[in-house]
Amino acid sequence: MDRKKIILSGIQPSGSLCIANYMGAIRNWVELQNEYDSIFLIVDLHALSSKQVPSELRQRCLSFAAQYLACGIDPKKSTIAIQSHINQHAELSWVLNSLTYMGELNRMTQFKDKSKKNEKNINAALFTYPVLMAADILLYQADLVPVGQDQKQHLELTRDIAERFNNLYSPTFTLPEPHIPKYGSRIMSLQDPKSKMSKSDTNLNNIITLLDEPGIIKKKIKRAVTDSGKSIIYDQSRPGLANLLTLYSISSGKSISDIENDYKGKMYSDFKNDLADVIIEFLAPIKNEYNLLMKDKHHIENILKDGAIKATDKAYKTLDKVYRKIGLIKKLR
Ligand code: AQP
Repeated sequence: MDRKKIILSGIQPSGSLCIANYMGAIRNWVELQNEYDSIFLIVDLHALSSKQVPSELRQRCLSFAAQYLACGIDPKKSTIAIQSHINQHAELSWVLNSLTYMGELNRMTQFKDKSKKNEKNINAALFTYPVLMAADILLYQADLVPVGQDQKQHLELTRDIAERFNNLYSPTFTLPEPHIPKYGSRIMSLQDPKSKMSKSDTNLNNIITLLDEPGIIKKKIKRAVTDSGKSIIYDQSRPGLANLLTLYSISSGKSISDIENDYKGKMYSDFKNDLADVIIEFLAPIKNEYNLLMKDKHHIENILKDGAIKATDKAYKTLDKVYRKIGLIKKLR
């Protein structure tokens, strides 16, 4: 019998989950979980590649799990787990390190970008981040990885590493395909629309978090950079406005051309006022559900416990196979 196809994706618990993470990744998880055997991780080991305050990291992992649930990830359909609860991620990552070349990691644009932003903490985990990401994906034999545009390069490297392993030993890993949405795969920063919106941006005016209060959303949209033009039309050469139109379209479910028609002859200020309202309305049910979920942390912890058990069962099988193929002696139980 054909096995159900598997999807895997994760977000690192750094900063605050933002509308870009929702539009680029989480909303696709919600849709795909109906068709696929789905695993969604909070990749806390990845978060160690930047400085963390331990108490905040702990709290953020729980909060991210609640936000996954509030966005519509259903624990009856999907496995939700914390990466560090499944030892096999770190173990497989070490094996894959031995099959990854420095030159490959040096080419990763995320490493270059993050090194520039954080010159005082260019650590080895930041450099080998894509190898741990490859382990995350390959451990579960994922067929599809729903991510934003920024992760495409890491996914290509994952495929290269998997192919290298399969050729060197024997077919072991499924080669994963990226699933990148047509719209919303690259939401841009509100103040600097040439850079992507990032959840750990220290300038909070650049991002809209899933839990922002309505008044804050209004202020951020009001301040968002547009350009000196007048007409409200989608044009890549006007990246600020194009980004706001994308946010409007995904939040309201309206097509860009319908929005352009609605705002013919209107001012940027009308458009921005309405956009803020559309986003507020769109995020309200997520926030309400989040607040309810956070009243019962035990419930979230139990979901994560079940998730870790289910995920470990799958991860164990792959790692066992890998260890055997590369020549490590099986541990007797
Ligand atoms: N701007 C974006 N547009 C669409 N999708 C995006 N994603 C990230 N940024 C955008 C997708 O969200 C998922 C989680 O990615 P991440 O954990 O790397 O989060 P981030 O927002 O990319 O994080 P930062 O701020 O760059 O820094 P860190 O990584 O330190 O928190 C992925 O599927 C990603 O594609």
